[in-house]
Amino acid sequence: MKPTALSRHLIEAQHQGHINADLRLLLEVVARACKSIATAVGKGALGGVLGDAGTGNVQGEAQKKLDVLSNEILLEANEWGGHLAGLASEEMDHAHAIPNNYPRGNYLLLFDPLDGSSNIDVNVSVGTIFSVLRCPDGVTEPRDEHFLQPGTEQVAAGYCVYGPSTMLVLSFGRGTHAFTLDREQGSFILTRADIRIPEETQEFAINMSNQRHWEAPMQAYIDELLAGKTGPRGKDFNMRWVASMVADVHRILTRGGVFMYPVDAKCRDKGGRLRLMYEANPMAFIVEQAGGACSTGRGRMLEVTPEALHQRVPVFLGSKNEVAQAERHHREHD
Ligand code: AHG
Ligand code: MN
Ligand code: MN
Ligand code: MN
Repeated sequence: MKPTALSRHLIEAQHQGHINADLRLLLEVVARACKSIATAVGKGALGGVLGDAGTGNVQGEAQKKLDVLSNEILLEANEWGGHLAGLASEEMDHAHAIPNNYPRGNYLLLFDPLDGSSNIDVNVSVGTIFSVLRCPDGVTEPRDEHFLQPGTEQVAAGYCVYGPSTMLVLSFGRGTHAFTLDREQGSFILTRADIRIPEETQEFAINMSNQRHWEAPMQAYIDELLAGKTGPRGKDFNMRWVASMVADVHRILTRGGVFMYPVDAKCRDKGGRLRLMYEANPMAFIVEQAGGACSTGRGRMLEVTPEALHQRVPVFLGSKNEVAQAERHHREHD
């Protein structure tokens, strides 16, 4: 059978009434921007793109040159697309409304332009995460508050992982599908349709160096996983931590697992480590569409009412039954 390119997949989805032409074209623009980022990331030291930019972002993080460049690529590509009313990014203090003299559409795009920045300089997988919302009716100049919609309102979400191969993983509410970039042809080809995350797992992902800072339910939960076969769970668990959310989630979509970034003493005042609007929510959408679950430990991620654009949350995502175990521990300690 002839391979299905992303463009054809999207056109067929439009013909079936699953997406409209504007959303299709918006997703095409995002995919094109991801291709440009893949090229920049792939050049590594030869492209002069490694290292710090010498600037900081609103998160209080030092920006890498590739954080800034990826943000510019996404901004530039999408500003002119004509399908958006506004954009918001990890690397921008506030939402950016599409200027008056540009064509405008009805969607809002949020993104983490480069996820896993700490891995850039060591040549380990990084990625881009994005989320699409509708612009509220009657709003022509979207501001931060217009983006503050629960994750259930997302019309599409996806990520692109820049690893040994570049893959775009996408959902517009009809399952989660993965496309691999054919570098010679320059197009994304459908390589995994309708991904399903196994419900059970024996693998977890967490930054164990934070253990002493965790709250009681986390201590109890991880103790249980580490106890292995003779412990209460009756099985051994393996551990992986890439420190690029995109790469860790991609592994979970491939072979199951549970990814956790709980709130700890270091990030308690901020509410967590990962960002709700452009990390947790899009990943929650993708994971749920693949039969997995995503929780704050105390409730479904997609139902969190956002209060700020850069809001942070605790994250538990992946194999359904394991996310339920994490929630159980939180319930028992509350
Ligand atoms: P970003 O590079 O976009 O700021 O995100 C980094 C995030 C996420 O990708 C990853 O899971 C986590 O930070 C890594 O945290 P640690 O440094 O604590 O391992
Ligand atoms: Mn960052
Ligand atoms: Mn990130
Ligand atoms: Mn980032």
